[in-house]
Amino acid sequence: MSKQLILALSKGRILDETLPLLAEAGITPAEDLGASRKLLFDTNLPDVKLVVIRATDVPTYVQLGAADVGVAGKDVLLEHGAEGFYEPLDLGIAECKLMTAGVRGAEPSHARRRVATKFVNVAKRYYAEQGIQAEVIKLYGAMELAPLMNLADEIVDIVDTGSTLRANGMEPRELIAPISTRLVVNKAAMTMKHDRLKPLIARLREAVERRSADVSA
Ligand code: ATP
Ligand code: PRP
Repeated sequence: MSKQLILALSKGRILDETLPLLAEAGITPAEDLGASRKLLFDTNLPDVKLVVIRATDVPTYVQLGAADVGVAGKDVLLEHGAEGFYEPLDLGIAECKLMTAGVRGAEPSHARRRVATKFVNVAKRYYAEQGIQAEVIKLYGAMELAPLMNLADEIVDIVDTGSTLRANGMEPRELIAPISTRLVVNKAAMTMKHDRLKPLIARLREAVERRSADVSA
């Protein structure tokens, strides 16, 4: 196994919050990630490289060992399943909630419920645990449109301020899981590259702890 460390970062919203945290832990990309069409980047550390990929692909890269370390939302990890990696650290960024939501004022249906979501596995698991019969419909975005268009009775989606729901005549119902961004580590790499990973995880943990100390001060 090469001694080089590959970090897989989720692009989009999480990336914007990950880069300052990585910088606080002493890792900076060698060039501006936003100004390039490249996907694989050098850093200030000769043996650390970054790949910037779709959030939903991060667990796959880490599970299969193409990346040693990943940064991904807990929502994505819950949907993917936790096999093949450890989750040693909550980075405390991109905090939000995974919730069910429905049309404002409407009674949740007691018959078989049609649920639109991109979190199909999470939704199936959740409704089964609640003893509610559900037909889960996979969508790739704009979940809030589904009840308006009579495609679904309910959705399972990310809620932060609630303004997307409100703007579409909907309201949050049940909390499925609080969400934040997590550090994940390939299981084999954790053993084989322990001497490189231990200080990296420790520096990130210190950066996260410094932030929460600053907030509570
Ligand atoms: P893709 O573009 O790959 O389909 P996406 O549109 O879900 O992914 P983002 O919107 O950048 O990508 O969100 C990435 C992650 O950020 C989510 O998996 C979740 O963990 C978190 N997240 C999503 N929406 C919010 C929000 N409104 N507030 C805080 N965190 C959020
Ligand atoms: C996310 C999520 C919700 C919204 C929730 O969408 O899918 O639609 O944020 O946030 P709120 O409760 O503060 O309104 P995002 O803005 O990332 O757009 P996209 O997922 O459709 O790209």
